[in-house]
Amino acid sequence: VFLPPVIAIDGPTASGKGTVASLVAEKLGFHYLDSGALYRLVALASKKEGIDPHHPQELGDLTQKLLISFKNGLILLNSEDVTEAIRTEDIGLLASTIAVHPEVRQALVGVQHGFRVSPGLVADGRDMASVIFPDAILKVFLTASVAARAERRYKQLIAKGIPAKLTNLLEDLQERDARDSSRGAAPLVVADGALVLETSELSIDQAVQAVLDWYQAKNP
Ligand code: CDP
Ligand code: CDP
Repeated sequence: VFLPPVIAIDGPTASGKGTVASLVAEKLGFHYLDSGALYRLVALASKKEGIDPHHPQELGDLTQKLLISFKNGLILLNSEDVTEAIRTEDIGLLASTIAVHPEVRQALVGVQHGFRVSPGLVADGRDMASVIFPDAILKVFLTASVAARAERRYKQLIAKGIPAKLTNLLEDLQERDARDSSRGAAPLVVADGALVLETSELSIDQAVQAVLDWYQAKNP
């Protein structure tokens, strides 16, 4: 069977994965998967249902029942528009808490594989290259210094009118980095064969171009 090509882009919080991955997808005419949005959706739903973030079984059951759809740039949860609601730092932190449970991760595998349709897919997250699409044609580990990332997330939230404090963001980011990298299930790692892109000093255009050049080289 022919499987459409996948470009996997993993990296820590606010490294620019989403921005770079969606622009690369646009350039190539590929589909785009924001896998972090899925964990954020589960976090939001569990909060609404009042489920304890340390109860893996209940969280896994909830994840299996969720109706998730991406339509015209909007993210729908059980047909409710939650595009903005999942972007807060609170939900980001809760997402990293519930994401440690294999029960939750397992329940999201099928949804993610469903995005792999012709002509191709650019997928961003933490375990795109290591677990979900290990046969990706290109694996990129996108990163930047903690200071650069905190600054990026701060500007992003302020621009959206979401209240934020730089010092709190720095702490949240370090807490999330530590949890994402140290967990047993699908930790954030530089996958075998992944190319590292350090973007602290790169513009968005330069980062996008680096990924496109690597893709060209892999797929002449
Ligand atoms: O998806 P992830 O959390 O990794 O990051 P993002 O939401 O794509 O990017 C965080 C912010 O950094 C966005 O507002 C981007 O515009 C910005 N950014 C940047 O300033 N320079 C880069 N080289 C990449 C992203
Ligand atoms: O935008 P940001 O990089 O801060 O986070 P995100 O990509 O939206 O993901 C939110 C949280 O979901 C992360 O802190 C991870 O703990 C978790 N996540 C994961 O475990 N695996 C993925 N493939 C994507 C996200």
